[in-house]
Amino acid sequence: MAERKQWKWADDPSLNKMELTKLEKDGLDVIETIINTYSKEGFESIESSDMDRFKWAGVYQQRPKDGHFMMRVRIPGGIMTSEQARVLAKIAQDYGRDLVDVTTRQAVQFHWLTVETLADIFDRLAAAGLSSFEACGDCPRQIMGNPLAGIDPHEVLDTRPIVAELEKFFLLNRDFSNLPRKYKMSISANVYNAAHAQINDLAFTPAKKRIAGEDVIGFHVWVGGGLSAKPYLAKQLDVFVRPEEVVKVAAGVTTLFRDFGYRQKRTHARLKFLVADWGPEKFKEELVKLIGELETSGEDLTKGWNGGYFYGLHEQRQPGYYYAGLSVPVGRMNAAELIELARLADEYGDGTIGACNTQNVLIRNIAKEKVAAFREEPLIVNRFKLKPNTFVGYAVSCTGTEYCNLAIVETKERMRSLAQYLDDTVELDTPLRIHMIGCPNSCGQRQIADIGLQGAKVKTPAGMVEAFDIHVGGTLEEPQFNRKLNARVSVDRLGAFLAQLITFYKEERLEGEEYWRYVERVGLARIQEQVDSILQTA
Ligand code: HEM
Ligand code: SF4
Repeated sequence: MAERKQWKWADDPSLNKMELTKLEKDGLDVIETIINTYSKEGFESIESSDMDRFKWAGVYQQRPKDGHFMMRVRIPGGIMTSEQARVLAKIAQDYGRDLVDVTTRQAVQFHWLTVETLADIFDRLAAAGLSSFEACGDCPRQIMGNPLAGIDPHEVLDTRPIVAELEKFFLLNRDFSNLPRKYKMSISANVYNAAHAQINDLAFTPAKKRIAGEDVIGFHVWVGGGLSAKPYLAKQLDVFVRPEEVVKVAAGVTTLFRDFGYRQKRTHARLKFLVADWGPEKFKEELVKLIGELETSGEDLTKGWNGGYFYGLHEQRQPGYYYAGLSVPVGRMNAAELIELARLADEYGDGTIGACNTQNVLIRNIAKEKVAAFREEPLIVNRFKLKPNTFVGYAVSCTGTEYCNLAIVETKERMRSLAQYLDDTVELDTPLRIHMIGCPNSCGQRQIADIGLQGAKVKTPAGMVEAFDIHVGGTLEEPQFNRKLNARVSVDRLGAFLAQLITFYKEERLEGEEYWRYVERVGLARIQEQVDSILQTA
């Protein structure tokens, strides 16, 4: 076991129980125990405090708590190689009942693992240059990025080396393995905010500044974003950061979170609460005290928001090369499909695969002369479509009761069939982003959706049934979270309800007007009228 740190908060009498657990034994120490003890002695041998620490190994108990685990694997910046994809697929085949989920933070998730298999899985991941460590837990998580980094005509610099540096610095770094709560970073130099800056704890977005007569390309810095039951949009600090300063700044922000973040209540521990109390000016002052002066902010290069979607075949920065944005309905695939994707990446592209925060994938570097044949590949024609139908293409879902202990309702399969139903029922030529979540934690990021569906229960003569609260008008284009309507719709009526709500929008919108813009224009009261009329007649 590594030497124990003397943390400055160690003697605080108001610490929550999880804080005491972390002081007793660092989360990262569980990895060794899993390898040496639990994977040999089995589920029954696991101590309950270590079960909490399993998250630092990237492993969580799945529902029902009967000895099976979920594992999340980091895909830094959302870019993996075909070889890594094959290793992931093999793990799913051998141990994970053939199931691979792409998550809203560009990670990959397995289910159905047993503790006996974990040591072997850690080995296989390490051999492929991958890791599940710190993919969960109170530590720096998977780093979100631009899955098109390096080939993106809309990026101002290639962020791949910076993502790699950040990953190398933070992963298994014991200076930062005991944070007050989870900590999520994103970095992208795509001018359409590909990595959802405002909903991360720390984010870097592209910027430019004239310094000493020279134009420098670098980043602006955002802190304190996050979703869950109390969502906050990140605040921009008045700083400009050169690419070579990113790791220093990230270390500084993370140190502030570690040393000043709140450790009394788990629901009030994310960085967003500290930033809300301090404000961006004081936060910058404290940051500068730690890491020294920084340039003040420059010109923002962000032009809008692409929602994290890249469907179709598009020209790259490299002339003669294309990338292909593919749809993976609600992010779920099987091992054979992932292996096939790896083959396509090798045969048509350069062997890299992108994972998008919309639970989709892309293939990079397809030479122009191979495009026609690529379009005809059965996987592309039948499953991971280049041009998915409107609703299936823009549906996002969390895990729900199928595997998640916190879920109130079933989500994943429900969102998939709901999107299919809407595609069969309503004809719509513009994207409409619907996100479904099974509880307020918001893993499916419902707050940024055009229509956000959040699971709940409703009382009926037949007893309590599953239902959804409806939220409308979320976007990161002009950042704002969607707002709740007065409507809790039981699941048997949900499809018909949404079809009617969307039909109202179709009839009243201006040409090409996106749903969130329409909500903005007509106002929430108008949408509530629509909802009331639908619910009265139903
Ligand atoms: C199945 C087991 C899972 C559990 C128990 C779980 C638990 C949680 C909890 C407790 C939160 C609230 C965080 C907070 O208050 O700080 C949260 C947020 C979140 N989780 Fe999960 N999660 C699970 C799966 C997933 C999956 C499958 C994804 C990706 C699809 C995901 C991505 C996220 C995201 C994006 C957030 C919101 C981020 C934010 O608050 O800034 N989680 N999750
Ligand atoms: S939003 Fe809730 S139900 Fe869905 S995966 Fe996250 S914790 Fe589970």
